[in-house]
Amino acid sequence: MASLSYSSSSLPLLLLFLIATVSLSSAAPESALITHLPGFNGTFPSKHYGGYVNIGENGDGKSLYYYLVVSEGNPAKDPLVLWLNGGPGCSSFDGFVYEHGPFNFQAGDKQGSLPQLHLNPYSWSKVSNMIYLDSPAGVGLSYSTNTVDYETGDLQTASDTHQFLLKWFELYPEFLKNPFFIAGESYAGVYVPTLACEVAKGIEAGVKPVLNFKGYMVGNGVTDDEFDGDALVPFAHGMGLISNDLFQEVNTACQGSYWKPSNANCQQKLERVDWELDDLNIYDILEPCYHSPEIKEPISDNSRLPASFRRLGETDRPLPVRKRMFGRSWPYRAPVRAGRVPTWPELGSSSVPCTDDEVATAWLNNDAVRNALHAQVESVAGAWELCTGRIEFYHDAGSMIKYHKNLTSQGYRALIFSGDHDMCVPFTGSEAWTRSLGYKVIDAWRPWYFGDQVAGYTQGYENNLTFLTVKGAGHTVPEYKPREGLALYTRFLAGGSI
Ligand SMILES: *[C@@H]1O[C@H](CO)[C@@H](O)[C@H](O)[C@H]1NC(C)=O
Ligand SMILES: *[C@@H]1O[C@H](CO)[C@@H](O)[C@H](O)[C@H]1NC(C)=O
Ligand SMILES: *[C@@H]1O[C@H](CO)[C@@H](O)[C@H](O)[C@H]1NC(C)=O
Repeated sequence: MASLSYSSSSLPLLLLFLIATVSLSSAAPESALITHLPGFNGTFPSKHYGGYVNIGENGDGKSLYYYLVVSEGNPAKDPLVLWLNGGPGCSSFDGFVYEHGPFNFQAGDKQGSLPQLHLNPYSWSKVSNMIYLDSPAGVGLSYSTNTVDYETGDLQTASDTHQFLLKWFELYPEFLKNPFFIAGESYAGVYVPTLACEVAKGIEAGVKPVLNFKGYMVGNGVTDDEFDGDALVPFAHGMGLISNDLFQEVNTACQGSYWKPSNANCQQKLERVDWELDDLNIYDILEPCYHSPEIKEPISDNSRLPASFRRLGETDRPLPVRKRMFGRSWPYRAPVRAGRVPTWPELGSSSVPCTDDEVATAWLNNDAVRNALHAQVESVAGAWELCTGRIEFYHDAGSMIKYHKNLTSQGYRALIFSGDHDMCVPFTGSEAWTRSLGYKVIDAWRPWYFGDQVAGYTQGYENNLTFLTVKGAGHTVPEYKPREGLALYTRFLAGGSI
């Protein structure tokens, strides 16, 4: 478990600083207010703020960028939610641009031209105050003046993000009374529980300001070597991607345990499984995958496939399917193991397949946009990348299961949700590890609804732990199912059953 994040010698200094800022600021800093955004002509439905919080000791070092979208509902009462994308190395602008941010981004006419922004009717800011944080330093718009900071890991990141929160609340003390939640997806399956434990320990230790922390949500989250590593084979079998025969062969050869092949026969069968899955879009098995930037339309419009089938993987957001992504992200089927997280080139692939970041890249690297966001220019903060290779990251917190047990047994509410067509962190692993905590089932497996349609399945446990699937969604749930995503989010925050 992570140790307390500051040394006793720096504590008095920190407290002095906190007391000084508390007395000076009682409301959001006007200098952080975002008044316009290139590509958007309309009126903001609520206030937006953006800027840096420096968590270095002397005003140098790590500068973490946040974007705050004040709730379009009741800002004083609605929850405050910190959103983290994963990677490690991916920017939370992934969530802002492609998932549940206040705008839908429409690509510009020409390659590299600025996108047009339209209001997103399914923005999570409809029901909550949202903080999008680029973390750790080196990711997205966050940077450090000491490049040595770019070597980091789970525990350091959790501790830094906790420091960020304490300083952020000093700038925005009006949000201290709102219920506070932490949310994220993918590798944030590690960021969220490790940070939540730092926050819980801080509350326990009387660290000021006192956060009104209530619970957390993780979508398709990396959790545990064994559970996540064992998840792919049963997923592929259940989804009809490998034959019954191969399933039985691999099951026999590996004796039902796939995460760490114990013999050559098991290894060989697993390679066969990998080969059969290789050309699929790992982030949503129903969606097309663009295997190179040149091949943009694998399904032609006059395809003989029935329309219902062609529509299976469609998202109802007005965005092109994302095609490519470079840099660091959790490597496909590479083991989720302790130690340094390998980069894609090291795994023999120069890019993450099937994922596009053109709109976000064009927007966030534009000087006028950076200026409007109160973000540093490229010469200071670096180029914005969806997922960066600039950091060197160590997975050093081990399995997340002990963190989840700790948090849920202290009364913090947890929602573990999965887009059920994601093959990157398949729901089969999340379903299995939530079950493995041994909590009593108090809401047995059942469909949950959006309108009169089944939107997925859920199982509720004691200690306010809920597992839930979103039918037909991929790795980034709100990108594929924005309406259902907002519905499950709203219901979880409200505290009722979903
Ligand atoms: C914003 O205004 C510009 C210039 O008038 C126009 O070309 C563009 O289509 C408008 N965008 C939206 C989203 O309305
Ligand atoms: C959770 O972790 C904290 C800090 O490591 C520890 O003090 C506390 O006893 C743990 N709580 C439970 C219920 O396991
Ligand atoms: C579950 O959450 C509710 C609402 O936040 C809270 O009142 C209750 O005490 C929690 N239950 C447990 C077992 O922690």
